[in-house]
Amino acid sequence: MESNIVLIGFMGCGKSSIGRRLATSLGYKFSDSDELVTLHQGRSVAEIFAEEGEENFREMETGQLSGLTTERRLVLATGGGAVLRARNRELLHQIGKVVWLHADPETLFERASRNRKRPLLEVENPRSTFDSLLESRLPVYEETADLKIDATGLSHEQTLEEILVLLGFRSGDRSSPHSKTD
Ligand code: S3P
Repeated sequence: MESNIVLIGFMGCGKSSIGRRLATSLGYKFSDSDELVTLHQGRSVAEIFAEEGEENFREMETGQLSGLTTERRLVLATGGGAVLRARNRELLHQIGKVVWLHADPETLFERASRNRKRPLLEVENPRSTFDSLLESRLPVYEETADLKIDATGLSHEQTLEEILVLLGFRSGDRSSPHSKTD
């Protein structure tokens, strides 16, 4: 019950906003790996990608995740690509219970395109880049997750409720239709 909660999932799935709400409702701290990197660097993710490239950003991401393994009562939202490195996957499991927040591609794309903060989508044909990235990453999220929530059609509030039930913080009046173990 007391273990940290790590949210993984593709860009636009709501890790940060749902993570914040989850932390508030549990009285846990909240961290966001993108935010930790940007605070440490004093630059935005887009600036880091432009100035240092993706690989260096990934290195910084690993550095920040390494600093979280001794945290307690933490909800961590990760960047969508944090699961790509095997070392990060190990770190995420050391940090806490890994919850994959998923939704259908249309929902993810619509949400991920709301702002220009995502350098991977700042390309000529963002939808096709999005689709191929998503396709290549789905098995990685699947493999990394301890639990999966499908937030398709759910508000952030409803998704939060699903997570709380799935993690055993709330008793659901029905078994969750979205749990990975169904
Ligand atoms: C990335 C997702 C972003 C951010 C960076 C790379 C990715 O985080 O870490 O732009 O590779 O999917 P969000 O998932 O919070 O958008």
